[in-house]
Amino acid sequence: MKRPIILAFLALVVMVSQARERRCFDHGWRFLLADSVQMAQPGYDDSWWRQLDLPHDWAIEGDFHAGNPSGAGGGALPGGVGWYRKTFTCPDLGSNRLFLEFDGVYMNSSVYVNGQKVGERPYGYSSFEYDITPYVRKGRNVVAVRVDNSDQPNSRWYSGCGIYRHVWLTVTHPVHVRHWGVYVNNGKVEVDYENPTSEKVTVRNIWLDAEGRKTSIRKPRKWSCDDPYTYRVRTQLLVRGKVVDEVETVTGFRDFRFDAKTGFWLNGKNLKLNGVCEHHDFGCLGAALHEDALHRKLTKLKAMGVNSIRSSHNPPAPELLNMCDTMGLIVMDESFDMWRRRKTQNDYARFFDEWHERDLTDWVKRDRNHPSVLMWSIGNEVLEQWSSAEADTLTLEQANLILNAGRDASALAREGEMSVNTLLADHLADIVRKYDTSRPITAGCNEPSPQNHLFKGNAIDIIGFNYHHQNIADVPVNFPGRPFIMTESVSALQTRGFYRMPSDSVYTAPKAWWLPYTDPTFMCSAYDNMHASWSSTHEETWDVVKHTPFVGGQYIWTGFDYIGEPTPYGFPARSSYFGIIDLAGFPKDIYYMYQSEWTAKPVLHLFPHWNWLPGQTVDMWCYYNNADEVELFVNGKSQGIRRKGAHDYHVMWRVAFEPGEVSVVARKGGKEVASERIPTAGAPHHIRLTVDYDGAKSNTRWTLPAEGGGNLTFVADEGGGNGSNQHLTFIPAEGGGNGQNQHLTFVTAEVVDKDGRLCPLAGDQLLFSVDGNARIIGTDNGCQTSMERFTSPQRKAFFGRCMVVVRGKGTLKAQSPMLQEAEIRL
Ligand code: GAL
Repeated sequence: MKRPIILAFLALVVMVSQARERRCFDHGWRFLLADSVQMAQPGYDDSWWRQLDLPHDWAIEGDFHAGNPSGAGGGALPGGVGWYRKTFTCPDLGSNRLFLEFDGVYMNSSVYVNGQKVGERPYGYSSFEYDITPYVRKGRNVVAVRVDNSDQPNSRWYSGCGIYRHVWLTVTHPVHVRHWGVYVNNGKVEVDYENPTSEKVTVRNIWLDAEGRKTSIRKPRKWSCDDPYTYRVRTQLLVRGKVVDEVETVTGFRDFRFDAKTGFWLNGKNLKLNGVCEHHDFGCLGAALHEDALHRKLTKLKAMGVNSIRSSHNPPAPELLNMCDTMGLIVMDESFDMWRRRKTQNDYARFFDEWHERDLTDWVKRDRNHPSVLMWSIGNEVLEQWSSAEADTLTLEQANLILNAGRDASALAREGEMSVNTLLADHLADIVRKYDTSRPITAGCNEPSPQNHLFKGNAIDIIGFNYHHQNIADVPVNFPGRPFIMTESVSALQTRGFYRMPSDSVYTAPKAWWLPYTDPTFMCSAYDNMHASWSSTHEETWDVVKHTPFVGGQYIWTGFDYIGEPTPYGFPARSSYFGIIDLAGFPKDIYYMYQSEWTAKPVLHLFPHWNWLPGQTVDMWCYYNNADEVELFVNGKSQGIRRKGAHDYHVMWRVAFEPGEVSVVARKGGKEVASERIPTAGAPHHIRLTVDYDGAKSNTRWTLPAEGGGNLTFVADEGGGNGSNQHLTFIPAEGGGNGQNQHLTFVTAEVVDKDGRLCPLAGDQLLFSVDGNARIIGTDNGCQTSMERFTSPQRKAFFGRCMVVVRGKGTLKAQSPMLQEAEIRL
């Protein structure tokens, strides 16, 4: 068979008078999950390999298995070694330079161009760039990337495998701004550029407003969560009066500070950081970045009242920061989950000594211009914080549990002792401060003592506790004059749709970290009444944060469920119970507690469902705001009025079930302002499909106007067309590969009775199919123990619902043996 040529023709000729050109390089790769040194060679025959577009995560396509090396903590999905290859045609570059940039490859990547090794990068969460000019030639070129994620476990939590973020190709004039070479700090612009010529170079910076008009920044409009106004700086390099390079940088102006007495201030306003920790996966889509999946996540969190995201525990995709800039979400940008002492057998600790300086430097340089980034976190619960950190040999499970357990004070460093670990923390902070002094540094610490090695030196500007809300009252005494936040909090355990009664008892699972926890349901309770031994209910921590002015805010573990860490269970559980929103993207009930506290929008949320056994005792909970009282009715009979006190976040009625309807009415000043009713559902009858999120209509600015030459312009920024050149990509039109750039639609499938009432206990097996150019790329139902493949078109309903993710346009059909089918046109 003749070898098909994978061509991505690039118009790379750059005239001396033209600025750089940056292209998305995601399209038309070949992939094989196998390993051979030959695969680096340009003459290697890859015509039989699978063709795909990036970003790509091969692990998410596999089956769950107890024997997979990541273990349940990493999602029990496969690892291994895979190769990616791409052939492209290059014109004569002349004296121009060509750069290949990867936003993220998990992990241990080695890049070859025409058989020659260009470089390698162990840390799978770093972005990096290679100057490939010396390796390319006019005509046909082959890039080959080896990705080695065989030594696991190596990440907390699910990492994904492969080139899971975008790839870029940039061509520049020999005189050019270096990678991440622009630093904009409060109106001051520093430019680091390369000039291999003897010519004199002039640097020009032009300020543009959000509409792209030239502007002055004498009285800049401030960036805030409500008005995330961004500016751009157009940086030009001129040689003999001609522009030879140009880059644009998105930036913003905001005043912020952390105060030891009053907490966090943004532009003169005292604000709580209502944050969530987010791990980087997208549920059934795995780690593979898709802007629609990311935007859906952030949209749901913002609607809940979240104003801040912690990128736990590693540098996020650049697109997350772009979106936070334009959506008004503050970011705590985190670098590492470990330093020299490992937490899992094969993690980054083995590369730390050699690579930390490079990784920290690149991280700060990449992210320091984003107005959304207000804090650097140099580590999460690093074992170096403890004075007797003998944790080197821990397993994943032991590390997790011990990290969260209270430690014996006698194991701490002696008063005044300056340990090597304090010096290490200072060293890392110095690297950060070398490249940015405009943001404070913090770290997530679970040793709340002032003896903590990280707190003892100069590294930490903001004291950050993970958990330990009981120790918050001592902070002003233990850390006089130092600002404080909860870098991580709560870790309550919930399964959407499952309720454990009596609801006013709190269940700890496991009771203590050394005890196993078993429960044949493999579920946790969606009343806020279950948590791990080191953690708390949502309400308990929020009550402390809300009523303690010096606490700048908290970062709840977690906003969304994520793959891996199925505490309190082991396999077959394979994803988390900690999320406020489940893995499929369905909010758990607690979502509405936060919405009632964190937003002004009216909330009245009654739960659980109303399908029980006659006479069964049921606890009905209600979250509400903007009302004085709520009254519950069962089939029209009042069950009493309830009012919240200053430290209450829900109300509860204990009632006897009778089929029919339960309802609640909210009143303000004696007048009804809202009501909600939950009917008893009959037998499952048909399927209902509704759009949960439509990427094409998502009101984002990464809509796709056609570009010349069959390309599309993809501007990953909101806010008046202020996409910067750094985020401007050119993606070939659909067709070829897997059409990765097409929009996604998330569709909810519900099992309902003949009158359309949700059947809250239904677990029917649904089968999805599509026509047109649509493709089903994932299904999920939020069930932590489901062994169905994430890429399968089949999914069981879980407590009545599941989610299907479709790429492209067409008609989606849902079928099930005992139910009437449904269709929806996308
Ligand atoms: C923290 C840790 C997180 C996660 C969480 C679960 O200690 O930083 O990664 O394990 O506990 O409660």
